[in-house]
Amino acid sequence: MSRYSKTLGLLGILSLGLLGACSDQATERQYVIKFSHVVAANTPKGLAAELFKELVEQRLNGRVVTEIYPSGQLMSDDDSLEALAFNEIQMTAVSLSKYNRFTKKLQIFDLPFLFNDMEAVGRFVNTPEGQNLLTVLEDKGLMGLGFWPNGLKQLSANSPLLVPPDAKGVKFRIQESDVLEAQFLALDSNPQKLAFGEVYQALQVGTIDGQDNTWSNIYNERFYEVQEYITETNHNLLAYIWMVNTEFWHGLPPEIQSELRLIVDEVNAAIMTMAVELNAGDRAKILQDHPDKIISLTPEQLEQWRVAMRPVWDRFREEIGEEVVQAALDSNKP
Ligand code: LMR
Repeated sequence: MSRYSKTLGLLGILSLGLLGACSDQATERQYVIKFSHVVAANTPKGLAAELFKELVEQRLNGRVVTEIYPSGQLMSDDDSLEALAFNEIQMTAVSLSKYNRFTKKLQIFDLPFLFNDMEAVGRFVNTPEGQNLLTVLEDKGLMGLGFWPNGLKQLSANSPLLVPPDAKGVKFRIQESDVLEAQFLALDSNPQKLAFGEVYQALQVGTIDGQDNTWSNIYNERFYEVQEYITETNHNLLAYIWMVNTEFWHGLPPEIQSELRLIVDEVNAAIMTMAVELNAGDRAKILQDHPDKIISLTPEQLEQWRVAMRPVWDRFREEIGEEVVQAALDSNKP
């Protein structure tokens, strides 16, 4: 064999080896999921994200890596929806009250006093009408993997709120939702849309007087430190859609996608219990250290809040869709 043909042979072996390495690399490609959210790690959403990461690590052998960015470290909720659509992040779980500029359908979740308790929420999201809402943003490139509950919200302020007239003129921070805005206007209060990450400071310096949130967020963001009173109203729901970038998801190899689907189902099944327990625990911690801050209402007082906020329903019912509203109401029946 000439030196020339020997070299050619060697080159052939080398290039075959390289090809082999390339195709191995292609099948072993690692997928990175950047998951951005705005709350603390020890909250329903924070723990659900961690559980997802943990199960992915256990079952996918390094093929998929999840990077979680909690507490708005990476970006605000508003930015995260844009970033998700552009696949700059692959997952997020933004509050259902913040989709206003994308769809009117999710406004259902903001109707005041819609759900009697979290069990009703669990039942509703599993109805065909509820499941259908996971798909409403698919034309924007966002696919819903499930609903993640946080809990029912309480009203906090620096003045005691016992009956609706007490809210008159109070500057409340609200999320980006027209329903929530209308609801606070119905109380003759002064609602201001503000990003979650800005609430503590705004309360501290007095740009706003109050806000509404779950026990979990009131505790973990330390809102109770800068609020005199928390009235236990359970007037609205705080919940999220766990969103993935559609193209990213469909671009995953089938075996990874089906393993992830099992993990997704597992996380979705676990979050309700975690959320209920965390909220009860965070309420108990605030109550223990600040028993005088929490105001419990009589049934008659609570009914007054319900009546004051209720007119909001008529304004939004049509754009939400009557069959969805009915399915949500039916979910209150065990
Ligand atoms: C809020 O802005 O109050 C909530 O959406 C924060 C969250 O993600 O729980």
